[in-house]
Amino acid sequence: MISLKFYWHLLYLPSLLNFFPFAVVPVYPDLYEASIHELQFGLEKEHFTSVDLVKAYLARIEEVNLKGATLRAVLEINPSAISDAAALDRERRLKGSRGPLHGIPVLIKDSIAVEGLNNTAGSFALLGSIVNDSTVASKFREAGTVFLGKTNLDEFSHFKAEPLPLGWSAIGGQSTNPYYPRGNPAGSSSGSAIATAIGLTAFTLGGETDSSIVYPAAWNNDVGIKPTVGLVSRKGVVPISPNLDSIGPITRSVTDAAIVLNVIAGTDPLDSYTLSQPSRLPDYTQALKKNGLHGKRVGVPRNAFLNERFVYIDDAVRDAFEDALDIIQALGATLVDPADLPSAEDIYNTTNEEFMAEVDFKIAINEYLAELKDIPTGVRRLTDIIAFNNANPEKELFPPYNDQSRLTSAESRNGKDEVYWAAVANNHDLGRTRGIDAVLKEYSLDALVLPTLGFSSTPAAIAGYPIVTVPLGFYPDNVTIKSVGPDTFYPAPGLPFGLSFFGTAYSEFQLIGMAYGFEQATHVRMMRMAYEAAIPKTQLKDIVSFHRRFQYMLKELINSFKRLSV
Ligand SMILES: *[C@@H]1O[C@H](CO)[C@@H](O)[C@H](O)[C@H]1NC(C)=O
Ligand SMILES: *[C@@H]1O[C@H](CO)[C@@H](O)[C@H](O)[C@H]1NC(C)=O
Ligand SMILES: *[C@@H]1O[C@H](CO)[C@@H](O)[C@H](O)[C@H]1NC(C)=O
Ligand SMILES: *[C@@H]1O[C@H](CO)[C@@H](O)[C@H](O)[C@H]1NC(C)=O
Repeated sequence: MISLKFYWHLLYLPSLLNFFPFAVVPVYPDLYEASIHELQFGLEKEHFTSVDLVKAYLARIEEVNLKGATLRAVLEINPSAISDAAALDRERRLKGSRGPLHGIPVLIKDSIAVEGLNNTAGSFALLGSIVNDSTVASKFREAGTVFLGKTNLDEFSHFKAEPLPLGWSAIGGQSTNPYYPRGNPAGSSSGSAIATAIGLTAFTLGGETDSSIVYPAAWNNDVGIKPTVGLVSRKGVVPISPNLDSIGPITRSVTDAAIVLNVIAGTDPLDSYTLSQPSRLPDYTQALKKNGLHGKRVGVPRNAFLNERFVYIDDAVRDAFEDALDIIQALGATLVDPADLPSAEDIYNTTNEEFMAEVDFKIAINEYLAELKDIPTGVRRLTDIIAFNNANPEKELFPPYNDQSRLTSAESRNGKDEVYWAAVANNHDLGRTRGIDAVLKEYSLDALVLPTLGFSSTPAAIAGYPIVTVPLGFYPDNVTIKSVGPDTFYPAPGLPFGLSFFGTAYSEFQLIGMAYGFEQATHVRMMRMAYEAAIPKTQLKDIVSFHRRFQYMLKELINSFKRLSV
C-alpha cells in the first residue's frame, strides 16, 4: 500500500535518490587518506567489513613493502589479523560496536609489545621473545582494534649507536620515505610514519624519547602526538629512559590522533609515572574546534632554534614557517615573537640528556629482558645483547652498520649515583624551569611553535612535556638534495616537513585544539602526494566480494521499499 508519504518524497530529491539502486551502491573511502570516522561509518553501515579492511591493507603492504618501492616499513604481519577481524565483525553484528576503534586496523612500532607477535626493537637479539601485551596493546584490544602487525624502526629506537642511519634496523633494513625514492624517513618510529602516510593501515602507534614520533611524522607528512611523560603507560615497551619515553599516535589527521589518544591515555599501576597525571583526563576530541587558535597566545622561541649558528634550516622551511606564523595570527591568535627560552643555548650544548638516558637504559632494558616469558637467544641483560651482537656480526655488526657504541657506553654506566641525580635535576631545570615553563609564564603563553626539525624536540624531551606536529609543507623540486647515511636523502624534492606546537605538562588538549585550527585552515597534507610507485593501488572496491555488495544493495533496496509502504 503506497501512502501519501510517497508523494511528499517525490518533492525531495535526496530521499528520492534512495529509491534507486544507484543510490544504494556502497561507498569506499580512498585508503590513502581514509579517516577513522569514514572507516567506522563504512563498517557500521556494512559497506565493508573489518575483514575486508584488513585484506585491503595487507594487499597494500604487499605492494610496496618488500616489492615495488621497497619501503621496508612493516616488519611482521599478525598471522591472526583476519580471524581477529572476523570475530570483531561477528561481535558487531550481534552486540553492536564497542566504540570508534572497533574493527579498525593498527600497525604498532616494534618496540611496543603485542601478545602473539615479536617485539624486537629491530634487533636479532630480541627475535622470538615471548611477550605479554603492553598496557597500550591491551587498551587497543579492549577497544576492538585489529592488530595488523609491527613496524620497522631505528634499532633500539636509535640507542644502538648515534651514527647509524635514521630508519635502519638489523632486522628490517633501511626503511625509506614514500615522498621521494630513497628519501630518509627520519626515526625512530620510521615504519609507523611511512605506513600511516600512504594508508598501509588506518593509523599507527609510535614511541618517542627525543624526536622519535614527531620527526618521522613530520618527514612523512603525518600528524604525531608525543604525549607528556606519564599520560600513556610504557609498560611492555622496549625502553630507553623512563624519564623521557612516551608512546603516542601517528595519524593522517589531528582528529584521528585525538581519537587514539583518548583510548591510550590513563593511569597504570605498572608505570608509576602515570600515577601523577591529572585525576580526570579530558575527552581530547572535544578540543577539535576550527577556531582552536582564536584568542590563544603563541610564542616563537627564535634563539638557537631558528639561528643558523646552531641549526641549518632550508629556505623552503623558513618561508613556510614564516607563512604559518601569519596564518596563526590571521586565525585570531596573538603572536609573541620572539619568545625566547632562557635555556635554549644550554639545551643545545647539554650532555646531561644523553648521560641520563644511558644510565636509565642500562637499568630499564635489564628489567625488560628479565621479565620476558621466554627469549630464544637467552639475552637477559644489556651485556648479553652486546655479546650477542659481537658473536653475530653478519646479522648485527656488518659494514657500514658496524657500531654499537651507545650500547657499550650505557653498559659502562654505574647506576643512579649523585652525578645521575644532578643530571636529572639539570634536565628539569633546562627543560621546565628555565625552559618551556619560564617562557610560557613570562609572556602568558598557551603554546610555542617551531618547525619540527633541528633540536626543536629537545626542550620538550628533557622536560617530559608534550608536542603535537602537523604537516607544514614540502621541499620544492629545485631543493639541493643531501645525503643521510650511506644511501638515503633529506632534503629532496617533495619531502614533507612539519610544524610543532608544544607547551607545559598535560597541555595536550590545548595543543590539539591549536594544531586542529591550523590543520583545518591549511590542509597541507593533500597538497602533494607520495611518488607514484610508493602509492599502493589496492582499494576496498577490489576486495569487497560481489556477494557482499549484492547483499548490501538488496538490503538497502528492501529498506527503501519498506519506507515506501506503510
Ligand atoms: C617471530 O619471529 C620468529 C623468529 O623469526 C618467527 O619464527 C615467528 O614466526 C615470528 N612471529 C610472528 C608472529 O611472525
Ligand atoms: C654552546 O655551543 C655554541 C656552539 O658550539 C657555542 O658558541 C656557545 O658558546 C655555547 N654556549 C654555551 C651557553 O655554552
Ligand atoms: C604476563 O602475563 C602473565 C599472565 O597474565 C602474568 O602472570 C605475568 O606476570 C606477566 N608477565 C609480565 C612480565 O608482565
Ligand atoms: C628554486 O625556485 C624558487 C622559485 O622558482 C627560487 O626562488 C629559488 O631561488 C630556487 N632555489 C634554488 C636552490 O635554485
